[in-house]
Amino acid sequence: MTDQELIAPELPEQKDPTISGHKSGWYKVARSEDIASMKAIQVDDFPTQIVVWRGEDLALRGLDLYCKHMGASLACGEVNENSIQCPFHAWRWAGNGQCDQISYAKKIPTKAITRSWDVIEDGGIVYVWFDKDQKLADPNGQKFN
Ligand code: FES
Repeated sequence: MTDQELIAPELPEQKDPTISGHKSGWYKVARSEDIASMKAIQVDDFPTQIVVWRGEDLALRGLDLYCKHMGASLACGEVNENSIQCPFHAWRWAGNGQCDQISYAKKIPTKAITRSWDVIEDGGIVYVWFDKDQKLADPNGQKFN
């Protein structure tokens, strides 16, 4: 089986964030208290659907919601160390978008990478960076509530 056969060519209803019309900036997606350690949430109020989770190091990370393997919702998965493990076939995804573990496979497909999102906390609020041109997150960028 090739790498391409292992990766779903299309994801279920993953919205294209580049056509959302949102300005560049940090978007409030949750309160810090909404995301406990080792827990994940689904965020729909954003230019695309994402999963945000808190790892065992207590840092927050975010990825596109739908697993690049066969499209399961990663928000239904489990946080494993600092990564999120898909509920369907247990591919584990790191915060940088790389699949970092497939427990039953000898190698990880080279195309097993997904889009990651920068996440910060400020004053008890969780923000995710968005820029339609994928410019790097600006720590001093505008915040939207
Ligand atoms: S859908 Fe198969 S590992 Fe996610």
